[in-house]
Amino acid sequence: MKDFAGKVAFITGGASGAGLGQAKLFSEAGCKIVIADIRQDHLDEAMAYFKSKKAPVHAIKLDITDRKAYAAAADEVERVFGEPPQLLFNTAGVNTFGPAEASTYEDYDWVIGVCLGGAINGMVTFVPRMIKAGKGGHIATVSSWGGFMGGATTAPYSAAKAAVNNLMESYNLSLKPYGIGVTVLCPMNIRSNIGEAVYTRPKKYKSTGYNVNEKTIDHLRSIHAQGMDPVELAGWLKRGIENDQLYVIPYDNATQVLEDNFKRVMDLATPGGVKRQEELARKRPRPYEASNSGWGLARADLTWVDESKRAKK
Ligand code: NAI
Repeated sequence: MKDFAGKVAFITGGASGAGLGQAKLFSEAGCKIVIADIRQDHLDEAMAYFKSKKAPVHAIKLDITDRKAYAAAADEVERVFGEPPQLLFNTAGVNTFGPAEASTYEDYDWVIGVCLGGAINGMVTFVPRMIKAGKGGHIATVSSWGGFMGGATTAPYSAAKAAVNNLMESYNLSLKPYGIGVTVLCPMNIRSNIGEAVYTRPKKYKSTGYNVNEKTIDHLRSIHAQGMDPVELAGWLKRGIENDQLYVIPYDNATQVLEDNFKRVMDLATPGGVKRQEELARKRPRPYEASNSGWGLARADLTWVDESKRAKK
């Protein structure tokens, strides 16, 4: 897709961070925008911005894990803008960090439910409507660099994002004949509010194995303050859509980083390579873990988690 003027774009997580950056950039490009988000305060703040711009933007409070509400949101888009979207951005996501061995079912259910389940709900809700409308379009899902590899403290998130990559590769193959393109955006660090994701964690999933408190949330805020500007990131996405790229890795050195990563996977399948990768892993800086906040640790009462062993790994 090269011409965005007049297109309807539905953006989950559109009221903050990467999603808000997409809403701003694609609104400037002439799209009619729907921002769907679980946080009313984020929606209010975003709408104040778009009202000042007099831009055609509609806000919907939506929990993307709620399939009934998702269908109602899709109906609302058609009522407001007269047609289903030609652009769908599955951008909403959450994360929480701690040792894999400390993870509870609820840690998995929440993170995978939003990051993978929410994207699936977006596809099942909108793909038939987009095909029936017969206007083609483009669907982008925000994955993560974390989707290419596991991490000692990112098991639910890395699992969800890896699955999202394959989900979108599958749709990419099947939607081409309908003129619907597919893109997966894989950033590393975005200037966003994702450090506060736990504020939206439902009560039914409150049991966590991780050490999460205001100090660890503040630590995350300080990491994401250094991330890529969301509008700049949306620019990478727009160019990716224009070029009909399946993957958008928004960095100039992406090819090298990807080559290193796939070499890592090949190494881990050979005895000599395993040693080489262990050596490289020992040398790799771990900037996010260099903190006294307690971020990335297990809940203190989980007796089987031995942090001293983890530090030596
Ligand atoms: P953000 O927290 O600023 O924005 C995400 C928005 O999604 C928030 O407004 C939040 O209220 C909303 N949201 C959360 N759960 C929801 C639900 N169940 N239903 C509807 N909306 C919900 O975070 P950010 O960083 O902009 O995240 C956007 C995407 O980027 C996510 O998929 C995230 O995994 C991904 N990502 C973020 C990175 C980062 O460094 N911040 C790095 C790589 C990927």
